[in-house]
Amino acid sequence: MNYKLSNSLDTEVDILLSFNKDEVDTVMIKDLTGLPDFQFNGELDENLMLFTDSGNKVFLLGLGEKNEKCKLRSAFQKFAFRHFKYLQKDLQVDLRNFGDDQIIDALTGLTMASYQMGVFKTEKKDIPEVKYHFLSERSIDDQISEGVAVGESINNIRALIDAPPNQKTPEFLASHVTASAKKHGYKCEVKEKATLEDEGFGALLAVGAGSKNEPRLIKMTYTPKEGADIDIALVGKGITFDSGGLSIKPSQNLHYLKSDMGGAAAVIGAVELVAKLKLKVNVIGIVASAENAVDAESFRPGDVIKSYSGKTIEIIDTDAEGRLVLADGLSYVIKNYKPKRVIDLATLTGSVVRTLAYSAAGMFTNNEEMANSLKQIGENIDEKVWQLPLYKEFESDLHSDLADIRNFSNKPIAGAITAAKFLEAFTEDHDSWLHLDIAGVSFGDSEFSKMKSASGYGVRLLVQYIKTLS
Ligand code: BES
Ligand code: ZN
Ligand code: ZN
Repeated sequence: MNYKLSNSLDTEVDILLSFNKDEVDTVMIKDLTGLPDFQFNGELDENLMLFTDSGNKVFLLGLGEKNEKCKLRSAFQKFAFRHFKYLQKDLQVDLRNFGDDQIIDALTGLTMASYQMGVFKTEKKDIPEVKYHFLSERSIDDQISEGVAVGESINNIRALIDAPPNQKTPEFLASHVTASAKKHGYKCEVKEKATLEDEGFGALLAVGAGSKNEPRLIKMTYTPKEGADIDIALVGKGITFDSGGLSIKPSQNLHYLKSDMGGAAAVIGAVELVAKLKLKVNVIGIVASAENAVDAESFRPGDVIKSYSGKTIEIIDTDAEGRLVLADGLSYVIKNYKPKRVIDLATLTGSVVRTLAYSAAGMFTNNEEMANSLKQIGENIDEKVWQLPLYKEFESDLHSDLADIRNFSNKPIAGAITAAKFLEAFTEDHDSWLHLDIAGVSFGDSEFSKMKSASGYGVRLLVQYIKTLS
């Protein structure tokens, strides 16, 4: 980001002032604009553009009630996104009353506003970079860099989720992570099909069998504390396109199933950001990636497959594929690395969307401490989670006569819960496992695009949680 720091207001340059509700500094605004009156009281996301006598712009941004500070990131993102065409000169941003976290959030929002979706347009709009001047009476370079780092990692995963499925194959995700690892100082190892076969990743291979784009298991390792245990493992569902397989989905809105790797993207963004911020936490990220395609080679409803854990699975529905790739990812990382905590993220079920709509991720865990921590962080940053139960009585819904377990209850009820119960069977009785079903929050409608697009959900939630472990 191109920026300058200064400690006092320059009336020769455009300025952005932000205020909480009913805390608007009317004297300052009257001094700047000469206006006797203006209608602005700092409601959340309220924007007003005024002018000084010499024709410079004075933008006002409402931050809402003080306890809505969690929405500061999106208020800044929306402001800059809405006003890009007016931000072509230098813009001073008054951060003089902001604490460290508020500066980070504001910078994250401004950075997120510059995300460009039209990467495949033949005629690209040439949008000049905004030249920011940040006003503060203290040194805030570190907070600015952190906010930009957060925003850039989020934008990187938004680009992955929004990318078309003919581009983002499992191999493409693996190359993306390999490049990110090199750039940001963490390790990446990719297991290709032959290795997956040798090592027994039967569930991941079954899901990917119908696609010429072969599956990959991508392992990210960031371990600054040499010789110490893995503090946390993150596992992401990386289905680059979910046609449903032979249990094929209806065609309406099928194009949106390119976003079925939102869990993988959150894991990729979080590990990248932890490495950029050099947090003193040992982290492993696993992406289990495949394309769920329709083909003569596709796995079938009725098949029995053998997972990495050794457990056999009867396939009832090939559209319940996310839990299969996660099963192999979870048991692989738990058996081989014995991490202290495990969080998996997946756009796993339509059921969670019917339950919580677009408001929160469904959270399932056997560890109440982790649950409370994520709930608190989620509320603070507006990436909410809502806990749902893992009752034992759902176990019988996954009973198979032929195999150890089946992948779908075949009942139209409690789909997010039975999916989580399925995953639980592959956690090797780990006592600190938490599953987030992010199908409703990872990708959806917003003012930033005409069709559905990636929200970037999960990166800040995971990294703020990981910060509490350092
Ligand atoms: N990827 C889908 C879930 C999904 C649907 C995410 C829509 C985002 C938007 C998942 O693989 C799936 O198909 N789930 C089925 C499971 C069922 C067949 C057991 C579902 O939830 O309907
Ligand atoms: Zn599916
Ligand atoms: Zn899926």
